[in-house]
Amino acid sequence: MSALPGPPSPSAVPVSATALEVRSLSVSIGTARIVRDVSWSVSPGQTLGIVGESGSGKSMSVLSAVGLGPGNARVTGDVRLTTSDGTEHDLLGLRGNALRRIRGRRIGFVFQDPATSLNPMLTVERQLTEGPEVHLGLKPREARARAAELLELVGIPDPARRLKAYPHELSGGMRQRVMIAVALACEPEVIIADEATTALDVTIQAQIIDAIRELQERLGTATVWISHDLAVVGGIADEVVVMYGGEVLERAETVRLFQDTVHPYTRGLFASRPHLGQRSDQLLSIPGSPPDPRAIPPGCVFWDRCSVRGDDRCRTQHPELVDLGDGHWVRSFYLPDARPPSAEPATRDQEGER
Ligand SMILES: Nc1ncnc2c1ncn2[C@@H]1O[C@H](COP(=O)(O)OP(=O)(O)OP(=O)(O)O)[C@@H](O)[C@H]1O
Ligand code: SF4
Ligand SMILES: [Mg+2]
Repeated sequence: MSALPGPPSPSAVPVSATALEVRSLSVSIGTARIVRDVSWSVSPGQTLGIVGESGSGKSMSVLSAVGLGPGNARVTGDVRLTTSDGTEHDLLGLRGNALRRIRGRRIGFVFQDPATSLNPMLTVERQLTEGPEVHLGLKPREARARAAELLELVGIPDPARRLKAYPHELSGGMRQRVMIAVALACEPEVIIADEATTALDVTIQAQIIDAIRELQERLGTATVWISHDLAVVGGIADEVVVMYGGEVLERAETVRLFQDTVHPYTRGLFASRPHLGQRSDQLLSIPGSPPDPRAIPPGCVFWDRCSVRGDDRCRTQHPELVDLGDGHWVRSFYLPDARPPSAEPATRDQEGER
């Protein structure tokens, strides 16, 4: 049988290599400029968190990068997937079967709703054996043994019995774990988790996050974790990209972002942590809503909601993403040493709430 590999050796997973790199990605549909100039990368064994309100372009950017965006979307930029043998694949240059083959084998997906990934008509076993048989060339008996190992790996007790179950016979938390097992079945280089734990209660959420972390350490998988919840992302990600209105507004290592939050929007996200009875994807502390992608403002995309905007520049000019040092990137005219003299210290209240 094909046993799951142990921890990757340092030579097998060069720490400096990136598993997935997205450069200057833009996505538009008709006149809607949904994603603009988004760049990030994630290395083997690392987790990149992408956070932002509903409609900020998180899913559209990541799914378009791997060729799963809407068929009518125009996608530009450069997306490179580096597989464990060191081969680089130009994902935006691949089409049809070639793209499907790379994606099916090298990228695993975990979505909010297991129904989007699990087939209700097939047993858990079939769903876990199909990929390895097709992509890894395992014999049915080998694939079955592996499927049981995978269930154990994601913390499902009594795997032999669960393999025979259909998705509807499992609890929500178990279905989510099965989806993770399916995502891992072909030992992909990258896992994309889009609101993977949003529908689950907090305890199961924590268990799933722990399971993914453990798997990452064991298999060296790179993970892109998409969520509107900064607390969840902070608990799992090594680096965080903050998106709003289709752009990256702040990007930094997680510890740095939490200790030294600079962008007014990120500060708003911290201040908007949900209280009982509130939806957690709304920026309650900042009135207004994200821009319509068909009418992106000429200046700062956050301008109409920003409480520290200083002068006309914010409204008329588009701020560049600036590196403050050590990989901390911020898109705002008013950086820590350049606050506008008239700026209302509105974020101080928000800081107080942190
Ligand atoms: N198929 C589509 N056609 C046109 N516009 C779309 C399509 N899918 C999404 N959009 C628009 O693109 C923007 C970004 O959507 P996206 O789904 O990436 O947001 P998100 O950050 O993932 O939000 P959520 O947290 O709700 O999942 C939104 O304005 C949305 O209305
Ligand atoms: S550029 Fe101006 S409007 Fe935009 S976030 Fe910075 S201060 Fe606010
Ligand atoms: Mg989404």
